[in-house]
Amino acid sequence: MTKNAPLRIAIQKSGRLGDESMKLLRDMGLRFENFDRKLFSSCKNFDLDILFVRDKDIPEYVEDGVADLGILGFNTVEEQKRNIKKIESLGFGFCSLEIAVPKDSKIQSIQQLNNTKIATSYPNALKTFLKKNALKAEIIVIRGSVEITPSLGVADAICDLVSTGSTLRTNNLISIAKVFDSEAVLVANKNALKDVLKKQEIERLMLRLGACLQGKNKKYIMMNAPESSLRKIENILPGIDSPTIMPLAEEGMIAIHAVVSAEDEFWDMIEALKKVGASAILVTPIEKIIA
Ligand code: PRP
Repeated sequence: MTKNAPLRIAIQKSGRLGDESMKLLRDMGLRFENFDRKLFSSCKNFDLDILFVRDKDIPEYVEDGVADLGILGFNTVEEQKRNIKKIESLGFGFCSLEIAVPKDSKIQSIQQLNNTKIATSYPNALKTFLKKNALKAEIIVIRGSVEITPSLGVADAICDLVSTGSTLRTNNLISIAKVFDSEAVLVANKNALKDVLKKQEIERLMLRLGACLQGKNKKYIMMNAPESSLRKIENILPGIDSPTIMPLAEEGMIAIHAVVSAEDEFWDMIEALKKVGASAILVTPIEKIIA
């Protein structure tokens, strides 16, 4: 690779992943204009061009080497099964591919999908699901508004993406099975990963990406506590290397600073800390963590 051949990353031109993808690239310290996402933009501070394209085209662009990298939904990767490499899950764009039926349908379990008609924009994923469950159904391929097909009498069930669930609710549909979970992923062209210079540049980007993803999943927590509670507090704080402990002016009191995981158990952890005497608990987001 020369200076005239920067890396190229393809991201979604419009739709739900586009904004989040651009935010992630900016969080990674990349400066670029989006020009209303007109096809192409060059980074000002990294040898990287950004291509704004349709999400369904990203796997093909990456497979053909038009782009070295791509950010898209795992759902599209799974449906298209192109010869590309998934290198990271990005922690946004969560949804799942689900099978749903009208609320008043006789179909209530996946076994009852035998000999029915199922409308979907994900025929390959659905075919695999049916095969895995030893089911036979007619797949009706629809490119958009799959959710209205049961009410039009076109299909008995649908297989579509569900994110908030509001499309299902609005159309009086209920989910009866999950095909797979999805989120945004970073994919790469396999040859780019073998090219020494490109690989080097991808690794530079991955360092930034890793730092952002790590930061997103963690919080910095500060608290005061009686010195006698230190053991108990250390047992409550999960997976930390070693907290910073400082004496306070007040006799027998200490300040504890630590990096903690910002996952579902976060509030349980806060409650437990309070119970063992922690007070003045301050929690701040972390922008980046570089190991
Ligand atoms: C998907 C899917 C549903 C909707 C579900 O469409 O086809 O219509 O999202 O989301 P909800 O559970 O939050 O209501 P999307 O907006 O991704 O566009 P698409 O039709 O191009 O897939």
